[in-house]
Amino acid sequence: MSSVIIDGKAIAKKKRIEIKRKVEQLKIQGIIPGLAVILVGEDSASKTYVRNKQKACMETGIQSFLFEYEASVTETVLIEKIKELNDKEDVHGILVQLPLPKHINPKNIIQAISPDKDVDGFHPINIGKMVSGEDGFVPCTPLGIIHLLNEINYTIRGKHAVVVGRSNIVGKPMAQLLLNMDATVTICHSKTNQLENYTKNADLLICAVGKAKFLGKNHVKDGAVVIDVGMNRDETGKLCGDVDFNHVKDVASYITPVPGGVGPMTITMLLENVIKAAKNINKI
Ligand code: GUN
Repeated sequence: MSSVIIDGKAIAKKKRIEIKRKVEQLKIQGIIPGLAVILVGEDSASKTYVRNKQKACMETGIQSFLFEYEASVTETVLIEKIKELNDKEDVHGILVQLPLPKHINPKNIIQAISPDKDVDGFHPINIGKMVSGEDGFVPCTPLGIIHLLNEINYTIRGKHAVVVGRSNIVGKPMAQLLLNMDATVTICHSKTNQLENYTKNADLLICAVGKAKFLGKNHVKDGAVVIDVGMNRDETGKLCGDVDFNHVKDVASYITPVPGGVGPMTITMLLENVIKAAKNINKI
C-alpha cells in the first residue's frame, strides 16, 4: 500500500483564509483580536517559533504584542507583566514561550495567566475543563491534529488510537481529546516495553516522543493513519519526524510529512484560539 500524504501546509493555508475572514468580521464589530507573546532568553528555536507566530498574526489581521526579557529576569517580574496583560482590553490571548530558564518555575507562570486568555490551553483550569469535557482552551498541536483528521474525513469514534508520548503539551491532551471523541486510547512512551505490541494494533497512530525516526515500518499496522508530531534532525542534519517516513508510507493509509504536516497546524490553531478568546471576552 502506498499512503496518502496529508498536506498540512495546504490545510493550514485554507484554515488561515477562514480565520482572516473571522478577524474581518470582528473588526466590523470594533474588535481587533490581540495576542501578547512573552519571550525570555536567547533560545534560537523559541525565537523562530515566536517570529512565526507574530508573522501568522500579521497575515490574518490579528494584533500581536511582543515582550522580550533577558534570561536573568525574575519570576516576579514576569508574573507582574502577566497580571498587567490580564487586565488589558486590547489583549485577548497571552502566550509565554516555553521552555523558560531553569530558575523560573513554568507552573507559576502559566497559573498567573487568566484562564480566559490562556490561548495555549496550559492553565490547570483549561486542562480540567478538557478532562471533564467542558468548553475551554485546548492546546494547539492536538487541536491541529483533530483538524487534520476532520479534513481527511477520518471517523475517530470507535477507533483504537495509540498516542506515543506523554508530554503536557501534546501527548496527554491528545489522548484526552481522542477519548472525548469516543476513540479507545492507549498511551505509550519512550519507556514502554515491547512498544510494537501496542502500536501494531493502532488504527490511528500519533507519535510525539521527539526522537528521530523512532517508529519504523514494523511498528505500524497495514492501513493505519499515522500522525507525526516530531521535529528532529537526522544524521545528516536534515529535518525529520519521529516516524521513519520513507518506510512507513508503504504501510500507512494516510501519513503526515515532516516538515509540512502537523507543524503548520499548530500556529493556525493558536490564531483560532485568539479569535475564540476575543469572542468570549466580548460575549459574542
Ligand atoms: N514551546 C514549544 N511548543 C510550545 C507551545 O505550543 N506554546 C508555548 N507557549 N511554548 C511552546
